[in-house]
Amino acid sequence: MVRSLAWQTDCLRLLNQTALPGSTEYIDCRDWRRVAEAIRRLEVRGAPAIGAAAAFGLVLGARELVGRPGDFRSALLKVAEELRSTRPTAVNLFWAIDRMLAAADRCSGDAEPAAVMSALEKEAVAIAREDEAVNRRISENGAALFPPGSAVLTHCNAGALATVAFGTALGVIGEAWRQGRISRVFADETRPLLQGARLTAWELHQAGIPVTLITDNMAGWVMQRGMVQAAIVGADRITANGDVANKIGTYSVAVLAREHGIPFYVAAPVSTFDFSLDSGADIPIEERGPAEVTSLGGVRTAPDGIEVFNPAFDVTPNRLVTAIITEHGVLRAPYREAIAALRDKKGGN
Ligand code: MRU
Repeated sequence: MVRSLAWQTDCLRLLNQTALPGSTEYIDCRDWRRVAEAIRRLEVRGAPAIGAAAAFGLVLGARELVGRPGDFRSALLKVAEELRSTRPTAVNLFWAIDRMLAAADRCSGDAEPAAVMSALEKEAVAIAREDEAVNRRISENGAALFPPGSAVLTHCNAGALATVAFGTALGVIGEAWRQGRISRVFADETRPLLQGARLTAWELHQAGIPVTLITDNMAGWVMQRGMVQAAIVGADRITANGDVANKIGTYSVAVLAREHGIPFYVAAPVSTFDFSLDSGADIPIEERGPAEVTSLGGVRTAPDGIEVFNPAFDVTPNRLVTAIITEHGVLRAPYREAIAALRDKKGGN
């Protein structure tokens, strides 16, 4: 199985996702600033993966601060703030940093910085390890939703590359495929950065799961022709009412699925739920630079000076979501009640 990241005691090794599928390159981050840069550049991407990467970034930050003059705790908080500022939408990033700072707080007030650093390292390793178990439970919980022989459509990449282990939506797909429930996956290419073409198609192909790549604007036609029986995606943030932020284009897939009477599933861990936000209207949506839209593969495809709108995510209203697959089971409407029950069970953010 491909690994998005690995902790190697003195550095965080990231698989450079911007180089895939052309070449397999690794980035060895020994400095937390390099981790922050990798998150910004999407060298590591996907909600759970950036959470885990930021957690290890904080370990590298703490390591740098040990033995330095000045207040360790306030310097650590500055590193945390920098890591938080890398990307705004995926709540897993903030969840992981909060969890790391809580681990630091659990060390007694007069604990040596070295002891805090070692507690942070333990917590980051736990975050990464837990993601593997969470991915497995999501996969098992979701697979049963697919009648044998289904073809499914997915958008963006919610696979091993986007997490620490098997993936969320692609974890479900992999498990359902092993059970004979999924026969083929249609992968949207996912403009502008092609996570579907470069990463999802690559992951599925490597795993031997039949995959057909389509451009985003083909999804409606594929559904109208009866070529898929379900759609499944991951998520970057799910609010208390069940609205789902995910890669730009997800909303269009959900609308199309509703029009064609196809179930639209979201697979996500509890760390992707933002219990503090009432609805998707409150989710900060990242906007990225115009070059991602005005060129493709380094070749300019639009006139110089053209105005561009480049939101990296959209929000799918809860009414279009058939079910949300979590490690604690499958949630269905009414989502406000189902998500409140999940929060009470887990003691969420
Ligand atoms: O901009 P990206 O590539 O980080 O966006 C990723 C997605 O939108 C994924 O679908 C989401 O993070 C779920 S990953 C399990």
